Amino acid sequence: MAIITVASIKGGVGKSTLAIHIAAALQSQRLNATLIDTDIDQLSSQRFLNWRTTRLNGAAKAVLSLPEIEIDSGTHARIRFENMIRDAARAGDVIIDLPGSRSQLMEPALVRSQIVVTPINESFVDLDVIGSRDGTPGPLTESILQARQVRADQGLRPLRWTIIRNRLSTLYSRNAEAVDERLRRLAETFDFDIGPGLTERVVFRELHDEGLTLLDAMNDDNVRPTLSAVAARSELRAVMENLALPSRF
Ligand SMILES: Nc1ncnc2c1ncn2[C@@H]1O[C@H](COP(=O)(O)OP(=O)(O)OP(=O)(O)O)[C@@H](O)[C@H]1O
Ligand SMILES: [Mg+2]
Repeated sequence: MAIITVASIKGGVGKSTLAIHIAAALQSQRLNATLIDTDIDQLSSQRFLNWRTTRLNGAAKAVLSLPEIEIDSGTHARIRFENMIRDAARAGDVIIDLPGSRSQLMEPALVRSQIVVTPINESFVDLDVIGSRDGTPGPLTESILQARQVRADQGLRPLRWTIIRNRLSTLYSRNAEAVDERLRRLAETFDFDIGPGLTERVVFRELHDEGLTLLDAMNDDNVRPTLSAVAARSELRAVMENLALPSRF
């Protein structure tokens, strides 16, 4: 089944939010999806899922699963992590949420994945992790190029890389246009595709506090389906279509 890593070396760009929503979107299609939170300092998606499990207890709704085993920073973490991915991939799709800085689980996550998804905010600061003005690869790109090489050496399929612009403003700005232009150039150099974007919407934060995702927003009696939630859900659908997950790799 598909193994998808949500990665960036930049913090706070929306990795956990996206990872949770990819898992929720797969589950809404009745697919089994396991979310593995490797951010051992924050564990923000794991904490969200725990709260979600409590919040939805007894309701006839799919609860996103998370592996029972905790990943520590000990020497066996990598082996345990790889076993965890393998076991989860037997049961369905796997979504790995990485921290906002390099971690020892980044390399195995990238090597084991068929797809890497990177949210970025429309800012040159964010773009620097991908590549600089003169086309030098940034730290995230270096890691992805290495993972592609390891996969090629192991005879594995090429790693697909998709950038999702997140927290987009609906207002026109020259900066956003310039960032898009640089992103398009980097996409050609480093072979990634630019997926559909997600607009900045407060509904992401409101739902989080309720233990819910956009996929529940229309069905939950306690949450009014606002126009914003409907629009956000359609953007998320476009992101999922763009990922074009094959049912089997
Ligand atoms: N499209 C969006 N609209 C509004 N708020 C958003 C959106 N995406 C993410 N956020 C908010 O941005 C903040 C950072 O998001 P998130 O925790 O998902 O990022 P992260 O990349 O996982 O961060 P970290 O690197 O710390 O793990 C959160 O407050 C989240 O609710
Ligand atoms: Mg996070």
